[in-house]
Amino acid sequence: MSAERIYLSPPDMSEADLAALTDAFRSNWIAPVGPALAAFEAEMCRQLGVAHAVALASGTAALHLALKETGVKPGDRVFCSTMSFAASANAVVYCGAEPVFIDSERAGWNMDPALLEKALREAAASGQLPAAVEVVQAYGQCADMDAICALCDRYEVPLIEDAAEALGASYRGRAAGSFGRAGVLSFNGNKIITCSGGGMLVTDDAALAARVRYLSTQAREPGREYIHREVGYNYRLSNLLAALGLSQLNGLPQRVARRREVFNHYVKRLGALPGVTFMPEAEGGTCTRWLSSLLIDPQEAGLTSHELMDALEAENIEARPLWRPLHTQPCFAHCRSYGGEVAEELASRGLSLPSQLTDEQQERVCRCVERAFAQKR
Ligand SMILES: Cc1ncc(COP(=O)(O)O)c(C=O)c1O
Repeated sequence: MSAERIYLSPPDMSEADLAALTDAFRSNWIAPVGPALAAFEAEMCRQLGVAHAVALASGTAALHLALKETGVKPGDRVFCSTMSFAASANAVVYCGAEPVFIDSERAGWNMDPALLEKALREAAASGQLPAAVEVVQAYGQCADMDAICALCDRYEVPLIEDAAEALGASYRGRAAGSFGRAGVLSFNGNKIITCSGGGMLVTDDAALAARVRYLSTQAREPGREYIHREVGYNYRLSNLLAALGLSQLNGLPQRVARRREVFNHYVKRLGALPGVTFMPEAEGGTCTRWLSSLLIDPQEAGLTSHELMDALEAENIEARPLWRPLHTQPCFAHCRSYGGEVAEELASRGLSLPSQLTDEQQERVCRCVERAFAQKR
């Protein structure tokens, strides 16, 4: 295997990022306190159209505090999209609550509002409404937020938005992350912007933001003494990483445009191959195409998604299956779920191709896919 490896969604770092990091370093604001944190939060508020943002050590930390401060407590249930990364449900368990999984719809692969409605109706009838609904905006695309927000309003259940994968996406002109009581973003290494590891909670609720800021800094009371009236968390982002995050955020529109360009090129080159269907862009939304995802019908294609991933791997190209639905994960097997067949089918047939790469690298990926199809047929 001699060709240079092509990664799925590697960090995209610039000289400007390095300069921002170096400036923060030279300023000696290395701790989780300093001017870059405030600047990163302010710019995120501006770009998303939200009132408050709190930069945290990870998206998972942001989810944990979003759920906790929404009142999720031991014994509660949280309705959560099944098609997601484990962190979405892990944060529910950190609160001592139990996730109840909701299947995807085919239109955009996100939470199915009809199943959410069924789940809420049954929960209301048995007097056990969930403490929150956690909708995941998977693969850079918003769910059907009109329907989901209306349901949460009707049943008076708070909505938390796991927009970890969807920074830069929008739905009817509103930014992903700005719909729920709180929205959660991730800046880990594979996301559309990265500061190596990091996350953010965004909200219009000043009191919620203040509580999260307080809890994330060890719940330390202001003043000289180390007084703690509550047990807190060491969840604040470092100022150094905030400087990097801010620099990356400045180029977000171009990043979204480039990922969409990569996706559209795959569609043009590979969309007519037998049995290939690319991820649909749901009505009303603009997907960032964080990952370039597609489904393979093995009957028509003559090969499975895993055989295609094997062919890509043989040429040193990273491709990954779609999220294994959370209701099928061994650690969540005891949890209830509404539906699940759609996410299971997507997972069994789906894969993501590299989405952050040069034109030449994309040509290599396309040729490899075409060869794999030609050989199997
Ligand atoms: C949907 C989703 N939720 C939560 C997370 C957790 O974010 P982090 O890795 O920053 O903790 C991720 C990514 O890792 C994710 O993809």
